[in-house]
Amino acid sequence: SQIWIRTCVHLLLYITVAAYPSEIGNPITDDIKKISLLKQNIPKDYKITVQYLPKEVSSMCWVQLNVFHLEESLKDLAQKFGNISSNKDYIATFIQMLQEMRYIIGNSLESSMLEFQCHYREEKWLTPRYFQFVEDFFNTANSSREDEDCEPPPCPATIKATTTTLATMPTPPPTQIRSQDGSMNPRVLTEIMKKSLYSLLFIPVIAAVLLLAWKV
Ligand SMILES: *[C@@H]1O[C@H](CO)[C@@H](O)[C@H](O)[C@H]1NC(C)=O
Ligand SMILES: *[C@@H]1O[C@H](CO)[C@@H](O)[C@H](O)[C@H]1NC(C)=O
Repeated sequence: SQIWIRTCVHLLLYITVAAYPSEIGNPITDDIKKISLLKQNIPKDYKITVQYLPKEVSSMCWVQLNVFHLEESLKDLAQKFGNISSNKDYIATFIQMLQEMRYIIGNSLESSMLEFQCHYREEKWLTPRYFQFVEDFFNTANSSREDEDCEPPPCPATIKATTTTLATMPTPPPTQIRSQDGSMNPRVLTEIMKKSLYSLLFIPVIAAVLLLAWKV
């Protein structure tokens, strides 16, 4: 019975560690210094499309509210380079950090992004402006802790007018339109949710095993 309990405890420890690898440590590494190298490799007059939320709108949640769209724009940029390009490697490193950050933030990210939906902007930035944003993003993410919960300011009036028009038409409700608009990749989200569900499933199983071991 002693051996059983020890096995279970080890199993439990293993599962906890295996299920949450990225919560150990900071996903942001010195690799962010490669941003300036990447910037030098891309022509200054090249334009990169990005959706972002300005700092003055999102204050204490700026990093988490921008993490997803930054990842998307970098993925787009990576497509422009060949497989053996060092640029592609640099970008892959940044994407990995963003994905780990997103994983740490967890399931609340989608609802936070939806709350701020009407404040997102889409712009095409020249290379220097874009990488200034990327550098600012990673430095801010490394140096500050964010609030879990942020209240969005009211939507600008023009957006409200549009949603009212939409609501009178025989189409799905505006929130649905907006979420389908592709601001969030549903596949990635379900993946994250699946992972957390699986780890939740383990809890009753382990409890049952422990109980059995106790009886023996
Ligand atoms: C992140 O912040 C820590 C502590 O503030 C600092 O020591 C470290 O150099 C920073 N990392 C990067 C990559 O800037
Ligand atoms: C580049 O890599 C991707 C994914 O690994 C692969 O699907 C694609 O065929 C590769 N392209 C070339 C030109 O090698």
